[in-house]
Amino acid sequence: MLVSGNKLLQKAKKGGYAVGAFNTNNLEITKAIIAAAVEMDSPVFLQLSSGALKYGGFELAGMALAFAKKVPVPVAVHLDHGPSFELARECISFGFSSVMIDGSALPFRQNVSLTKKVVAAAHRKGVSVEAELGQLKGREDDVFAARHSYTDPAAAAEFVKLARCDSLAVAIGTSHGAYKFRGKPLIDLQRLSRIAGAVDVPLVLHGASSVHQSLVAAASRYGAKISNAKGVPESQIKRAVKLGVCKVNEDTDLRLAFTAAVRKFLHENPSAYDPREILGSAIEAMEEVAIRRIKVLGSEGKA
Ligand code: G3H
Ligand code: 13P
Ligand code: ZN
Repeated sequence: MLVSGNKLLQKAKKGGYAVGAFNTNNLEITKAIIAAAVEMDSPVFLQLSSGALKYGGFELAGMALAFAKKVPVPVAVHLDHGPSFELARECISFGFSSVMIDGSALPFRQNVSLTKKVVAAAHRKGVSVEAELGQLKGREDDVFAARHSYTDPAAAAEFVKLARCDSLAVAIGTSHGAYKFRGKPLIDLQRLSRIAGAVDVPLVLHGASSVHQSLVAAASRYGAKISNAKGVPESQIKRAVKLGVCKVNEDTDLRLAFTAAVRKFLHENPSAYDPREILGSAIEAMEEVAIRRIKVLGSEGKA
């Protein structure tokens, strides 16, 4: 069933667990995420970035909404890293139950006013709003940050008070993609704990893929060139959840599972040319990734 993001996150905050937010770009990824949520009896965020909407159009969002409405578990269909008021408004009108407005590259005051504008439009329709303060290194769709700029706890408290967002994404050392750390994979959990003490809305962790080395090895076996890929260890994700993170974003791990499975399938079936066989071969592997994450976050059985 389709539910607001806030409904999922308030329940998670009370229950001391987090909800997985998985990015989709096509039918197979959507099916895998939904199947994992149903099998685990877990709530889930099914999220589309502006890049996903450029790729698949609002038809892709329509498919996500159709799946969300059909299944017995609660699903929030969410805009990930919304780059503008206009796109957020389009998603709200289209029926998304949650949107992120990413003003993290803007100066503080401009981030507040953009977020406030989206909050006003969203709340009129019962749609929840995630905002971001602080920047993750790397590319977030059209926004590129060369360095991390970690979230300041006092600024986060001030931001939430002014912008009235429903949840807040924080920068504590994670980043998007498969190459998150050069050295030891460490995130700033002390800072997270201070942010959680200063802010009362549920916190969101982006760039949280674990980059499972088994997936990197499986993809590499069939020709992928992704050496030095490193993600956030699951032990640190668990600690982040204990400290107050209620939504955890995962995209890269699904992409790695997809790549590994399709490469293997094509290698083992050189005469295959049916896209349903080729792409369909990746669904189970992506479902396993989502199931593993749901278990780490503790949302199993919380539908
Ligand atoms: O924020 C990053 C997500 O992985 C979405 O990635 O912008 O390539 O769709 P994308
Ligand atoms: P990963 O690249 O670590 O999967 O992060 C995804 C994300 O944060 C989507 O918003
Ligand atoms: Zn993100």
